[in-house]
Amino acid sequence: MKQIYILLVISLGVSTFSCSGSVERNVETEELVTDSSHVVTEALVIDEHTLSNYKDVVVSHCHLSLDVDFENEVLKGSVLHTLKNVSGAEVVIFDTKNLNIKSVLVDGTTAPFELGNYDELLGTPLQITINKDVNTVEIFYETTEGAEALDWVNPKLTAGKENPYVFTQGQSIFTRTWVPIMDTPGLRITYSADITVPPNLLAVMSADNPTEKNDQGKYHFEMSQPVPCYLMALAVGNLEFVPVDERTGVYTEPEMIDACAFEFADMGEMVKKAEGLYGPYLWGRYDIIVLPPSFPFGGMENPRLTFATPTIIAGDRSLVSLVAHELAHSWSGNLVTNSTWNDFWLNEGFTVYFERRIMEDMYGKDYADMLAILGYQDLIRSIDEESEADQALKLKLNRRHPDVGMTDIAYEKGCFFLKMIEEASGRELFDSFLKNYFLEHKFQTINTEEFVNYLNAKLLVPNKIAVNVEEWIYESGVPSNCPVIESKNFTSVEEQLAAFGTENNLDEINPLDWSTHEWLHFIRNMPPEFSNKQLEIIDSRFQLTQSGNCEIACAWFEKSIRCNYEAVDQNLEKFLVRVGRRKFLTPLYRALKESNRLDRAFEIYEKARPNYHHVSSHTIDELLGYSKS
Ligand code: BES
Ligand code: ZN
Repeated sequence: MKQIYILLVISLGVSTFSCSGSVERNVETEELVTDSSHVVTEALVIDEHTLSNYKDVVVSHCHLSLDVDFENEVLKGSVLHTLKNVSGAEVVIFDTKNLNIKSVLVDGTTAPFELGNYDELLGTPLQITINKDVNTVEIFYETTEGAEALDWVNPKLTAGKENPYVFTQGQSIFTRTWVPIMDTPGLRITYSADITVPPNLLAVMSADNPTEKNDQGKYHFEMSQPVPCYLMALAVGNLEFVPVDERTGVYTEPEMIDACAFEFADMGEMVKKAEGLYGPYLWGRYDIIVLPPSFPFGGMENPRLTFATPTIIAGDRSLVSLVAHELAHSWSGNLVTNSTWNDFWLNEGFTVYFERRIMEDMYGKDYADMLAILGYQDLIRSIDEESEADQALKLKLNRRHPDVGMTDIAYEKGCFFLKMIEEASGRELFDSFLKNYFLEHKFQTINTEEFVNYLNAKLLVPNKIAVNVEEWIYESGVPSNCPVIESKNFTSVEEQLAAFGTENNLDEINPLDWSTHEWLHFIRNMPPEFSNKQLEIIDSRFQLTQSGNCEIACAWFEKSIRCNYEAVDQNLEKFLVRVGRRKFLTPLYRALKESNRLDRAFEIYEKARPNYHHVSSHTIDELLGYSKS
């Protein structure tokens, strides 16, 4: 069919400098839409979540010189940008948010700078006049209390309870709150850093890392492969390192190091399995740092050093799929990066697919199938919760925070889409396609439409495979050809639950060989009409309220809240006060709210909120309608 191109120019009209009267800048997203497919040309893709002019002036390297001041809870120092004025622009614009900008040097000479209007979502553009031959811009600054990326962890909330701790979380648009930078996944930079910390602490970054403290508390870092700046990361605390094998290892506080080393004993093997699937691991070392429980995510794929929550330390290695996930990002996300946050599923959907393939290679198909079914259940829940427009893989964030897109649509619908193509093409063809995809796009960014073109050109058209790609990517719901996964382990759990029935036949439940996944399936599948008496019977036999496994505890607490089983209340409070992982907080506070226990939710939240990272408190503030006053 003849394709008709329609040029849509959506002017978002962010007049960032209008009040200061100097410059008008419009952020434009330009979309080329055809009548039969969705095509966007790379040159026209502009990330709507940056105020920087990253296409006009291209930064190639950043050097950070920062002092970590725990007393005042600020990072202070400078960032030196090495850049090229590719368009002959008169100004360079960086993203900043809640930063205190002190002064600027352009090619070593003091230069004036201007801050635009503050935008709640995007922050404050920092504009500096440059000439066409400019080489460097150095910005001197301090972070403030409003640094959304930073978690200054109270010593009481660390494992050792004595030393302070700080860590950063850049994804998605938080790097601008600790570094003035062109904060877009559409630009890759190499970086280096000199970080000064109190001498009793160790600093680590998403770079090459020290394994021991030094007396000066001064650490130098190099990340010589280009990365999008949401992957710049820093953690400082009383850290130790233990190797797992020659290429992998664990950083954490001494109190946890043995438990973590035990939990992650398979890490070296995982990297090898991942390489066996989709090609060499290109980042040198692969280490993991286990952070304090306020870390708002399960894991974050900071290159060379995954940041992880301590809630995966279950004592039985049952939650290590998270390591497989963050490791898989070393290909999907870190090597091949979504161009904009609207293409987030390219990062996460591929990673979940890859994660399950690693898990299958490590622990067998039955294991991976259980993970896939739990994932499918999460997807159905997401479809229930999200508006139709947000159920498409390709997002239209339109001035909303990219965080809005962190749902199981991107993760699970994205993964099932790839699984569907795997089934249609056969595993062998699909694997070789994926391997080439990573190889041919390494250290590049890609958007959804470029991916679809590549998929058509390299896999679907040459092999005459006809599948409903457009429906999966641009439409709501779960298409009817979504792969169906079966698990005999889960069928057995369902049978046991049915046999428990309404007569509470406890002897029918034999969980001796159950993994965490079977327990989760068991709890999730308890019928909604279960009485609190029935929960009590199950609890007194299996001690779920006391579970030290955070996944099981969270699922059980949620079920208990919804069935008015109040015996969990004290442990629920302890859990919510200690753990800041948003994935656990959201369903628990939501269950309290929906069970008309908003008062109790507020009572707990008052105590817990100071312990949470901004990412989590922001979400829960909104969920509960909480305002500080
Ligand atoms: N990159 C994500 C975390 C993220 C996404 C942070 C979007 C900020 C914005 C990370 O790889 C991730 O997906 N973590 C998951 C764990 C995973 C096993 C699904 C999480 O934290 O729950
Ligand atoms: Zn991920």
